Amino acid sequence: MSTVKPYNQTGKKEEVEQMFDQIAHSYDFLNHFFSLGIDIIWRKRAIKELKKYAPKKVLDVATGTADFAIQSVKSNLQADEIIGVDISEGMLEVGRKKIKEKGIDHIIQLRRGDSEQLPFEEKTFDAYTVAFGVRNFENLELGMSDMLRVLKTGGVGVVLEFSKPTVFPIKQLFRFYFRFIMPTVGKWISKDSRAYTYLPESVDAFPSGNAFLEVMKKVGYSNTRMIRLAGGIATIYIGEK
Ligand SMILES: C[S@@+](CC[C@H](N)C(=O)[O-])C[C@H]1O[C@@H](n2cnc3c(N)ncnc32)[C@H](O)[C@@H]1O
Repeated sequence: MSTVKPYNQTGKKEEVEQMFDQIAHSYDFLNHFFSLGIDIIWRKRAIKELKKYAPKKVLDVATGTADFAIQSVKSNLQADEIIGVDISEGMLEVGRKKIKEKGIDHIIQLRRGDSEQLPFEEKTFDAYTVAFGVRNFENLELGMSDMLRVLKTGGVGVVLEFSKPTVFPIKQLFRFYFRFIMPTVGKWISKDSRAYTYLPESVDAFPSGNAFLEVMKKVGYSNTRMIRLAGGIATIYIGEK
């Protein structure tokens, strides 16, 4: 897997942190705008899978502005505690504000943390979630195995990520939209010239479908499976400890 970085100047982790700090103010708007709100439906679909495990203590990795954690509360996951971690303080700041405004700061807490070296003891959580985060990890296998480490035995990891559609005409339409429309509009609104060019490049370079399940199996997940969404534009991956 080749390393695709936002700016090609330093390490991937530093550049990803810098990029998300930079676009944090427009991230929520652009996310829902570009996906026409479909990202919300995808998060709800992933939470439906998570609910089957009735987790009480949940870790939301690469939580960003906390959309997945907030949606979990809205969708009645009934977790007692959700901890969101992210490397970008800029994204966390936006997330903290949203959580406070919604009056759910007694359930969700956000803290700075790296997926590859999580600041938690092993076997701490019943479940973890990552939405549109794993593609940005500097070392995917390290991130996937550290998230497994903090799961209790029998716990579940639910990953939502962009994948590569293979079906005509979704594949062609998606390619055009992702490569031409999004970078142009994204650059204009976020004021970051690389963020929305990095997005399609990073999806292209990332293991999709079975290749991702292979990574999960390799680092020790069991009962791995996937659910393809919108002809493969995104996929939910599930694995247990
Ligand atoms: C596309 S955003 C997704 C945010 C959120 N999960 C959502 O569904 O909108 C990706 C996030 O991953 C975070 N990230 C990237 N690498 C990370 C790492 N190694 N550890 C923790 N967070 C990371 C970024 O800072 C960014 O906030």
